[in-house]
Amino acid sequence: MNIDGSHYRTIWVKEGNPGTIQVIDQSRLPHSFEIIDLTTVDDFVSAIRDMYIRGAGLIGATAGFGMYIAALDAPDANFDTFIQDAAAKLIRTRPTAQNLEWAVKRQIKAMERESSPGMKREAAFAGARAIADEDSAFCKMIGEHGIVIIEEIARKKGNDTVHVLTHCNAGWLAFVDFGSATSPIYLAFDRGIDIHVWVDETRPRNQGASLTSWELGKHGVPHDLIVDNAGGHLMQHGMVDLVITGADRVTSTGDAANKIGTYLKALAAKDNGIPFYVALPSSTFDWSLTDGVAQIPIEERDPKEVTYITGKGQDSIQDVLICPETTTARNFGFDVTPSRLITGLITERGVCRADHESILKLYPEKV
Ligand code: MRU
Repeated sequence: MNIDGSHYRTIWVKEGNPGTIQVIDQSRLPHSFEIIDLTTVDDFVSAIRDMYIRGAGLIGATAGFGMYIAALDAPDANFDTFIQDAAAKLIRTRPTAQNLEWAVKRQIKAMERESSPGMKREAAFAGARAIADEDSAFCKMIGEHGIVIIEEIARKKGNDTVHVLTHCNAGWLAFVDFGSATSPIYLAFDRGIDIHVWVDETRPRNQGASLTSWELGKHGVPHDLIVDNAGGHLMQHGMVDLVITGADRVTSTGDAANKIGTYLKALAAKDNGIPFYVALPSSTFDWSLTDGVAQIPIEERDPKEVTYITGKGQDSIQDVLICPETTTARNFGFDVTPSRLITGLITERGVCRADHESILKLYPEKV
């Protein structure tokens, strides 16, 4: 996507240096735009675990490149063990995003098809680029399918402004390009639809405030930042036409795990008769699961993310304590929205109802 006139993806191979992968450091946004080099498996582990990069799609693409770097570093004599160790380290970083394990396993399979370490390295390089390219292409298709929903609402409103509410960052920063929830929004804006986005701040890490607002602003999409608890009020007053969120893992029955707080937005949307869509590429489906609440692993992070808030002070980025020093906290990263609250899933193959039968109609090879 565009940053001040230059096209960026969120991850790429450094020009002239195939042993270095570069990413945008999202922990510095929106205050500072910095690029970091990842050259060892440990760099990849830290980038994912410590959230220099984040968002299910980008976590998957980063893991794909991490496996390629593991292949470069693996000694010929001990290649397979080294790869298995790297895979385990990467998978342990963040438990909820399905794309992570999916990408690691896809890379292992690609390497297993080859016989020599040299050929395995080449396969891992091609595989990592393919995962990234596919992520970008799938998100672009999500835009093409999702815009139909926005167009329909615009038509019904006599081309009055369409107000979309989104939670967390399911934008291009959460993928390689375009984003999932934002892809139809960007396309609608580019095609001249009058669109406005309510951006949930998304405590505790504030991905809405720091990342979604930044992205939308760079693209020129009108938006307003709101506190996490404002959505229900806006819905009651007819100020939201639809909700679109991303997802970190979706069961084969259509239950969707996404950033903590998504479920409450879905409940409020249901109560107010507002369509609630979840946008995802197929790499986010966990085909083995049938009950999201019972089966999707929910990441719990450092309580300091709750007790401190990070922001820009006079001239530096600072952490500020927001409760008594003795207060204890829990930090659940995600929640699950049951399929009954989801109007539809927007995928790269089209829009479907959030139920097993409809999902399998789009993905018949998974039957
Ligand atoms: O903890 P994060 O920032 O990785 O969580 C991101 C989200 O919850 C996004 O909404 C999600 O990844 C869906 S879009 C890929």
